[in-house]
Amino acid sequence: MSHVAVLPGDGIGPEVAAQAIRVLDALGIAHSEHAFGGNAILSQGTPLPDDTLAACRAADAVLLAAVGLPELEGRPVRPEQGLLGLRKELGVYANLRPARGDGVDMMIVRELVGGLYFGAKGVREDGTWFDTCEYSRPEVERIARRGFEIARARGGRLTSVDKVNVMHTSRLWRDVVTALGEDDYPDVPLDHALVDSFAMTIVQAPQTIDVVLTENTFGDILSDVAAAVTGGLGLAASASLGDAGPGLFEPVHGSAPQIAGRGIANPAAMLRSVALLLAYGLGRPTEAAALERAVADALEAAPTPDIGGTATTAAFGDAVLRALDATP
Ligand code: NAI
Ligand code: MG
Repeated sequence: MSHVAVLPGDGIGPEVAAQAIRVLDALGIAHSEHAFGGNAILSQGTPLPDDTLAACRAADAVLLAAVGLPELEGRPVRPEQGLLGLRKELGVYANLRPARGDGVDMMIVRELVGGLYFGAKGVREDGTWFDTCEYSRPEVERIARRGFEIARARGGRLTSVDKVNVMHTSRLWRDVVTALGEDDYPDVPLDHALVDSFAMTIVQAPQTIDVVLTENTFGDILSDVAAAVTGGLGLAASASLGDAGPGLFEPVHGSAPQIAGRGIANPAAMLRSVALLLAYGLGRPTEAAALERAVADALEAAPTPDIGGTATTAAFGDAVLRALDATP
């Protein structure tokens, strides 16, 4: 029997998590809620309490809403440290960022724990600040394998995005991806693109894109661009996966303190994260597809204010549950 650890977090987090919990209940999936983020700092002095981490490790999947409390800004202990800590503890290195809508169905596979964000950084004696982009062959190979697997599973093709004309690590990236494709995935069509022109393609012709494989920094930026062209933060979901242990599933948005407590947050990104959890966390692809369709229906039937409608968070949830119920 599957068990999901739910971390509602702060701000609109608990509001969108409540709708996710209704869906888990409707599907008969067991779950438990745990303190995480700003609320955990206030109550226990740390964003990632030990019992929360233990519950996450023991679960089949972790569903996180959002963290961030304005009243904690400027303090040494921040909610986001809990996020980075949790990713590290769960060993997740593959960040899946789907972008869907309006004839667009792309999946960005972003390397999450290497590259520029995690390389050597500091200040030299002459006062120069530096960050270093670093990748090892195994780090590139494991994320590339994930990209090929996802492309193969959906009968699609893979576009690897780099900056090989300028960056040294991109040479390694392109060589590893090319060799892996020839050796293990000859059935998956592969092409390469340079990140700057590919950013234009996302804006100008997103319908032509299928599965995208890219390194940490490029993926961070490109996935936000892709989210923007397909409806914005209220819709964008993500999954972070490792090789073993539970994956982490979360909307891309933050705690949106300006609208928290008003019952108007869009729960679509959270519910799409549940769909990713079903597909990649629990191995329940049929229910994942049904939930994706139900969310698409609700976006038509009960849009929230951020996408030009007037529905409340709960009314959106009602529409999703109705659509799920109607699914054969
Ligand atoms: P944000 O994503 O919370 O909000 C950005 C804008 O999008 C705001 O106008 C907000 O009202 C709107 N928005 C976001 N999600 C929405 C939803 N589901 N429905 C309707 N509107 C939505 O980003 P912001 O304002 O930069 O950060 C707020 C707090 O969240 C900060 O403390 C930040 O550190 C934290 N944060 C946490 C993240 C996480 O938990 N993964 C990610 C990003 C920010
Ligand atoms: Mg980002």
